[in-house]
Amino acid sequence: MAEKMLELKGVTLVFQPGTVNEKLALFELFLDVAPGEWVTVIGGNGAGKTTLLNVVSGVCLPQSGRVLLDGEDVTAKKEYQRAKDIGRVFQDPLMGTAPNMTVEENLAMAKIRGEKRSSFRTGVKRADSAAFEEALAGLGLGLETRKKTAVGALSGGQRQALTLLMAALKRPKLLLLDEHTAALDPRTAEKVMEETESIVRKHQLTTLMITHNMRDALRYGDRLIMMERGRIALDISGEEKRQMTVEKLLARFEQESGSRVVNDKLVL
Ligand SMILES: Nc1ncnc2c1ncn2[C@@H]1O[C@H](COP(=O)(O)OP(=O)(O)O)[C@@H](O)[C@H]1O
Ligand SMILES: [Mg+2]
Repeated sequence: MAEKMLELKGVTLVFQPGTVNEKLALFELFLDVAPGEWVTVIGGNGAGKTTLLNVVSGVCLPQSGRVLLDGEDVTAKKEYQRAKDIGRVFQDPLMGTAPNMTVEENLAMAKIRGEKRSSFRTGVKRADSAAFEEALAGLGLGLETRKKTAVGALSGGQRQALTLLMAALKRPKLLLLDEHTAALDPRTAEKVMEETESIVRKHQLTTLMITHNMRDALRYGDRLIMMERGRIALDISGEEKRQMTVEKLLARFEQESGSRVVNDKLVL
């Protein structure tokens, strides 16, 4: 394993360059993430957070700069080529799972992700089914009794928890979470966050987690970065992160963005 799991070296990404709609999303961004490190990412709307994850996962190709995953330059690799190394969970609970397939069929699909198509067998192997049941029971959402239920019938929180389980199943080199609890009610969001913590720590997954919830950004993870206009405006870890409060973070945020948080969707 490389000393750094993820390295961004001077990444710049401009959308629709040379047009009136030109948008600078990332500007000469440098970021190193150590193996097993969990980084929480905050920042206002349009700061470049999602674009950062898109560049890392190969959805967007930067104009300049390089992206290294576990020491390997993946800058020119397409999204599907990076898929086996990267797990991703989006805000929308509908995005990560196939609604017409059952819970265990979704898990079986996740298990063969990145493998050759020839290895696909319809149906779920008995041994896999037992392992899935155990993993589902670990979520504490009662999903282990609903292995044969179509995912479309589950609640948003159950779907996000399942998506998380699927994303972690192959022990990806990198787990990317983009406001994955934002669409859930507060109680469910908290449950999914606790589940996130247990999965990330159990498998020591290197994780980038975007959240608009400053409290979560401080409570979880080893390190916190704040983005502003395509750059990293604040990068704290260890004691500095432990000493940080929501109030101080808000003050920094308002200072950086020059705007009041009330106008933004950042919440306490
Ligand atoms: N596909 C796209 N085409 C054009 N502009 C985009 C696209 N995606 C994002 N942007 C712009 O890039 C900037 C950063 O967006 P984004 O990374 O989504 O911000 P965040 O996730 O922090 O809210 C914003 O100004 C946004 O409008
Ligand atoms: Mg976003």
